[in-house]
Amino acid sequence: MKVAILTGGGDCPGMNAFIRSVTRSAINLKKEVEVWGVLDGWAGMIAGSYRQLDVLDTAGISRLGGTILGTLRAPEIKEQEEMRERVVNNFLEAGFDAFISCGGSGSLRAAHDLNRRLRAKGEERQILFTSASIDNDVANTYGTSIGFYSAIERSMEMMEWIRDTASAHRRVYVVGSMGRNSAYLPVYAGLTTGAEYVIRPDEQVDYDRIVDMIEARDRDTRIIVSEGYPRTLDEITAILSTSLEKLHSAHEIRTVDMGYFQRGGMASVTDVLRANWIGHCMVQAAFAGEKSSFFGAFHIGATPNKVTFEEAIRPEATHEDIPRAIMEMMITLR
Ligand code: F6P
Repeated sequence: MKVAILTGGGDCPGMNAFIRSVTRSAINLKKEVEVWGVLDGWAGMIAGSYRQLDVLDTAGISRLGGTILGTLRAPEIKEQEEMRERVVNNFLEAGFDAFISCGGSGSLRAAHDLNRRLRAKGEERQILFTSASIDNDVANTYGTSIGFYSAIERSMEMMEWIRDTASAHRRVYVVGSMGRNSAYLPVYAGLTTGAEYVIRPDEQVDYDRIVDMIEARDRDTRIIVSEGYPRTLDEITAILSTSLEKLHSAHEIRTVDMGYFQRGGMASVTDVLRANWIGHCMVQAAFAGEKSSFFGAFHIGATPNKVTFEEAIRPEATHEDIPRAIMEMMITLR
């Protein structure tokens, strides 16, 4: 039996723990299994590039950020029918029986498409997917993406560093956060670091209110801006600066983008455990004959929440999906 592992979309901490868990669980549970890593994510399925993985190939990678298999963006899968066909043909040519994959919303769609095409050809292969993305925008009601908690931790560190300098200089920092159109990462980063304000992607921002808030504060103010918000950090800074200048405010403004740093670094303990557990559950499911499923990443020991690809694919998460209680804990609502 040949099992393929693919990590797709934007990298995130926990992907390596997932690769390690799938490889080791498969080899431990079935001696005659071959485990293959798809190189560079979905681009590797187009190019047909894979390498066989053994236990020692996955040694020492549990907490390591990024993905040892690589992940290149492959927009051509979304855009070109020919590429989608190529993926399925390469899959069959490689002789994979089970495909255990993780990634963000684009990868979920690609896995769903591969699954549909295989079924249309009468091929009963096993296509399993779980979400791994700092955006937490895939079927978040079924669990939390691998990588999300690590990205919050990274953001917390950066927000604390920014507070030191902001407070020393009596400055306002307009801080960019990744997270695409899902507000999960900026909102959770804001909550956990006590940021004074979080601008959500679709918010009608009341800039006067933000200026009042800045003026009411003695020293530092940190405003997190969600990636999906249509104005750039510089545009927001210019709006606020103009108002503060008119008020002869003592507060200066600077901008900084947490961006790619949020994706890097060591995986959090939660993500290492979650990735290990979900990887193991997916291997068990593949060996038990599970045909195709999306796995919600739940806590170690708990039965994963399994749903079909059709159920998992739905409009991407927005701040509306964030539990109301989280929003109520934020100063943003005042
Ligand atoms: O998918 C995760 C993510 O980090 C998003 O938050 C961000 O919009 C995007 O990836 C950036 O992608 P790229 O690495 O292709 O610039």
